Amino acid sequence: MYKHIFNSVLLAVTAASSFAQNAPTIIPIETRQNVLVLQTDKDNHLEITYFGKKLSQPAEYKLIPSQSRQRDGNAGIYNSAYTPAGTWNVSEPALQLTHGDGNKSLDLVYVSHNMAKENDNVSLTSIVLKDPVYAVEVTLFYKTYFQENVVEQWSVIKSEEKKPVTLQKYASANLYFIAKDYYLTHYNGTWAKEMNPEEEQLTAGIRVLDSKLGTRANLYQPPSFSLSFDKPATETEGKVLLGTLAWSGNFKMEFEVDSYHNLRLIAGINPYSSEYPLASKQEFKTPSFIYTFSENGKGEASRNLHNWARKYRILDGEGTRMTLLNNWEATYFDFNESKLSELFKDGKKLGVDLFLLDDGWFANKYPRNGDGAGLGDWQENVKKLPNGIGYLVKEAQKTGIKFGIWVEPEMVNPKSELYEKHPDWVIKQPQRPEHYMRNQLPLDLSNPEVQDFVYGILDKLFTENPEIAYIKWDCNATTFNPYSAYLEKSKQSQGKLYVDYVKGLYKVLEKLRAKYPKVPMMLCSGGGGRVDYEALKYFTEFWPSDNTDPLERVFMQWEYSYFFPSIAQSAHVTDWGKQPLKFRTDVAMMGRLGYDIVVSHLDEKDLQFSQQAVVNYNAVKDVIFQGDLSRLVDPKKNDYAALMYAAKNKSKAILFSYLVGNRNGDGSDTPIRLEGLDAAKNYKVRELNLYPGTKSAIKEDQVYSGEYLMTAGFNPVVNARRTSVVLEIEAM
Ligand code: DGJ
Repeated sequence: MYKHIFNSVLLAVTAASSFAQNAPTIIPIETRQNVLVLQTDKDNHLEITYFGKKLSQPAEYKLIPSQSRQRDGNAGIYNSAYTPAGTWNVSEPALQLTHGDGNKSLDLVYVSHNMAKENDNVSLTSIVLKDPVYAVEVTLFYKTYFQENVVEQWSVIKSEEKKPVTLQKYASANLYFIAKDYYLTHYNGTWAKEMNPEEEQLTAGIRVLDSKLGTRANLYQPPSFSLSFDKPATETEGKVLLGTLAWSGNFKMEFEVDSYHNLRLIAGINPYSSEYPLASKQEFKTPSFIYTFSENGKGEASRNLHNWARKYRILDGEGTRMTLLNNWEATYFDFNESKLSELFKDGKKLGVDLFLLDDGWFANKYPRNGDGAGLGDWQENVKKLPNGIGYLVKEAQKTGIKFGIWVEPEMVNPKSELYEKHPDWVIKQPQRPEHYMRNQLPLDLSNPEVQDFVYGILDKLFTENPEIAYIKWDCNATTFNPYSAYLEKSKQSQGKLYVDYVKGLYKVLEKLRAKYPKVPMMLCSGGGGRVDYEALKYFTEFWPSDNTDPLERVFMQWEYSYFFPSIAQSAHVTDWGKQPLKFRTDVAMMGRLGYDIVVSHLDEKDLQFSQQAVVNYNAVKDVIFQGDLSRLVDPKKNDYAALMYAAKNKSKAILFSYLVGNRNGDGSDTPIRLEGLDAAKNYKVRELNLYPGTKSAIKEDQVYSGEYLMTAGFNPVVNARRTSVVLEIEAM
């Protein structure tokens, strides 16, 4: 056996040198401001030689490697563009596999590359790498969005070996950065405590961000991070990369400060318990790793991502969003037709576009009157809704409001007819006790029958009620006891389960969107459990957290805003927290505004305020959704927060400011320098969302130049008497 491996290694060296060439191949992957330079070495291995600000003379890229004095035994090992395992490279691999004959060695040499322009802005560079000994090929894809400075990177692994190859680790991206120091901001959290940032300086060794939750990526750690080079970046200064993996399941990101104090990054699906067989001539496409880089701080970097996401990723990202009234916190599971009809009227009175019926409308043998039963049985509960969903849709419409509905189609309660009929559709270990999260288990989406079932739930709802105008798609359990009866029965490896679950989900969503391309859908997961740019191809928005306490949301929405534009963030006014209704409303206005309150409990002034707030929101929401976001005052470092959205044409901006401190004198004492305006234009500032009977502290007839507002600044006068302030800044 040793002899066999030895021969393979020898062969690999010989074959690689036969690929070798004299002049290196240099492949610059360019966006408007940045470049990633790839270059072949003398053995035709592909390396990363540079990442950062683009040079004006591309001919100079070839000079870069000669400037590094790292010619010890490790040179060319750490900066591999896609590190293979088991041959000459001894560092953490991007691709690790076992060949059909049991051999574990892999080498990858450059074969060819191609650059195709999809249009003026979008280009796709593909680079083919091959193992000189085994019939394994990898194509690295770099899709660039030129104007937005965003790169979407993935790889496709293909085997032509006779026997199946087993993939052990199959990263989406392998990058290499050279800087003085590296500062990683990552996030931790749990239910109702999502998105707590921590920034740390990376030191030698590997720092791992990962998740093993199965049905979702985030609960404890999202697949998004920011990475500053040299020193921690601020909103307006410093070199920073924002990165995120577009995958709704287990992920792993490794940040390795190597022995030259350079940084390797490997990001992709988590190899944990996911050995994936690849049959001959089959391809495995990894999810996309999406990143942007800015030399001018986190503000610019996040605007890059927002511009990209709205235009190219989020479903209807350049469109608009409806306001809604949700009944979850108003009724929980306790409702019937007449109660709902009253709520439709409440929604109408409030002035929102849509009523969203939440959990509890289905199941009969085991009625869904709590979270312990009924999930999986998607027939209307005849006691609560004797006339079915169709009746509700009509009733809502009669009241002048649209109708949307909640589903959690991937899940099952053991107390359900579905579980009784199809225990083999459920993910669980047959020989072990079941372990639940919220009394439920995920269905096995690796099974095509289950995919059809899940698709069928939505298809039936839409077929019977074509006027359903909105879907909230929930997912409240992680995967415990991962085991698939389907994979067992069809003699497939259990190692596929985690990956095929997510692929199965995407198949369902793909089919659904082919038939129902437009219906807005919220991606919800008992909190911010499922926020990623692959799922957002199919969804119009996500639910950042069950925690709607507005004070918490100021912080949470701030952090999400590094990666996702406000048009994708659902934000509801609820009874969480101790803040007044105005504060709760002002915070929810920074996203897709909804209400989850008992409207009939509002007193006259609160109702009047809310009605006007909905009108105000409708008048300015386009700026909030499509404008350029500047985070001006960080609530983590100050006793108040301030953020503003400026329309691209600089004619209008909306500024939000919230008091987050509780000490005497907390608030805005000095002006804040605004951003995103036109220095040469004149503006007037008007306060929105004034509570009835209160007066604004802002002089509405004063004219300010854009230069003044951005240089001398403006004080929104947020303090203990004015705990939240919304300002409209309009060009004259
Ligand atoms: C969890 C969601 O986050 C809530 O908004 C609500 O829809 C419940 N699930 C319903 O069970």
